Amino acid sequence: MEKVKTDFLIIGSGVAGLRAAIELAPFGKVIVVTKDIPTESSTEYAQGGVAVALSDEDEVGIHFEDTIKAGDGLCREEAVKVLVEEGPPRILELIEWGAEFDKEGTKLSFTLEAAHSRRRILHAQGDSTGRELERVLINKVKSLKKVQRFQFCAAIDLIVDDGRCNGAYVLKNTDIIAIFSRATVLATGGAGRVFSRTTNPAVVTGDGMAIGYRAGAILEDMEFVQFHPTVLFASSSPQFLLSEAMRGEGAILRNVFKEPFIKNYHPDAELAPRDVVSRAIISEMVKTRSNHVYLDLTHMDGNFVKKRFPRIYTTCLQYDVNIIKDLIPVSPAAHYLMGGVKTDLNGSTNIKGLYAAGEVACTGVHGANRLASNSLLEGLVFGARAGKAAVNSPIHTEPFALESKAISIHPSLHDHEEIRHALKKIMWEKVGIIRCEESLKDAQEKLAEWSYILNKTFSTRRGLELKNMLTVAILIIEAALLRKGSVGAHYRSDHPERGEGWQRHILLKKDDKEVKFEYVE
Ligand code: FAD
Ligand code: SIN
Repeated sequence: MEKVKTDFLIIGSGVAGLRAAIELAPFGKVIVVTKDIPTESSTEYAQGGVAVALSDEDEVGIHFEDTIKAGDGLCREEAVKVLVEEGPPRILELIEWGAEFDKEGTKLSFTLEAAHSRRRILHAQGDSTGRELERVLINKVKSLKKVQRFQFCAAIDLIVDDGRCNGAYVLKNTDIIAIFSRATVLATGGAGRVFSRTTNPAVVTGDGMAIGYRAGAILEDMEFVQFHPTVLFASSSPQFLLSEAMRGEGAILRNVFKEPFIKNYHPDAELAPRDVVSRAIISEMVKTRSNHVYLDLTHMDGNFVKKRFPRIYTTCLQYDVNIIKDLIPVSPAAHYLMGGVKTDLNGSTNIKGLYAAGEVACTGVHGANRLASNSLLEGLVFGARAGKAAVNSPIHTEPFALESKAISIHPSLHDHEEIRHALKKIMWEKVGIIRCEESLKDAQEKLAEWSYILNKTFSTRRGLELKNMLTVAILIIEAALLRKGSVGAHYRSDHPERGEGWQRHILLKKDDKEVKFEYVE
């Protein structure tokens, strides 16, 4: 097995991984491994923007309150405080590095999204905010001599010895290499691809959560999956997001009879919390026996729409939907996982030498439901914090044994793809926006048939991803079964009330005989 040594290893090149790399570069050699081309990540596709209390009408205290309210009682207040207070300096620093956010005259332009009580969302090139962040961060990383980037390298597992993480095994082409490091930062993003309907790009298969779990990391809040209400639903179109900022600018939801309906579900109408809007859409789809509703911008000024949402306008046109003239068929899709590898405020996990940041992590900042556009900010703030904390990891001098990582004989490609397809469908149908004991148990039973996959090491990225998707799916179901109540984005039709002990967080750890619960003060 080829062996590579570095001071710091970062797994993932989205906003969180890149920001951590920048922080670490002055202190030693940094390697960033990434599964695909460097830009392929959720970050690259982020549309609406980045929430930050920088406008004249805003304050960090108000951003704090809105985040806590969206989190529905389960945010860790100290984490939210860090997010909103360190957000402004992280954004100003990004502007110094070359980020160009949209302006009105000479002033930054802020938009509105659901559950924000102020216009506080910065955006770039209208609806390409994530692409701008990725561009600036990659350029910054490229300028740092100490940072090496390995593309098309998928982390398989962590190298763990005596409770300490010493790096990771990585699949490079079809070879497994061992990268040793003083500290390792998981920044692999979320797990949207576990569901058949999702806004997430193909790389987002829950790898970091599964890798962390296998190594003994604690996972938290896995039942909280956020579904985005408005995703394009047109024949042969991809599951393309239609930013919430469109509703922030005045777009209206209509059912298939072209009737506005959302006011019947929540007084905040189009800007009600995401989980409420997603469930309202499902309910309206059931009522009208349809597989979609419409997003309507036809009453808005066409030139404004084209200028404000250029990427959405041109992408929809490619699928024969003209957003300034036509009603846009939409339905919800899995979008964001609030849960993940449990960390403290500095990205430290329960495993020495292992840090996590961004969507893979659970700092508690989002509670049971993430406030829109808080995750790019989270990647910047907690990516930087994880980097800062990882600097102090001691150099490991004791010898330790490497695992053999023999490639298992595995089912044919054909079988893998069949299982992958079935897994995603089951997760969407049984563990989606509305769940209940029966649907969750059905899903659990079906997934158990494929548990042999969990003990295998694969020589292909698709195989590895399948194992990770299965792991994460099992954990989401386990947590969703344990939470016998409805809080934030987790909705149980058999327990529509919050339920007893709703304030606790569900913690899952491999080989623990008992599930642990933790209360936030
Ligand atoms: P990502 O940006 O997803 O990066 C993960 C990286 O890890 C990728 O480089 C990936 O290739 C790599 N990786 C994964 N597995 C492995 C492995 N095994 N080995 C090596 N590398 C691996 N949030 C907002 O705040 N505002 C928005 O406007 C917004 N819009 C969104 C629009 C879309 C379509 C989507 C999908 C999400 C949006 N979000 C938005 C959410 C936000 O983009 C993500 O939560 C955030 O970008 C996550 O950043 P990250 O660095 O944690 O992960
Ligand atoms: C959007 O633009 O609607 C996505 C924003 C987010 O998920 O934070």
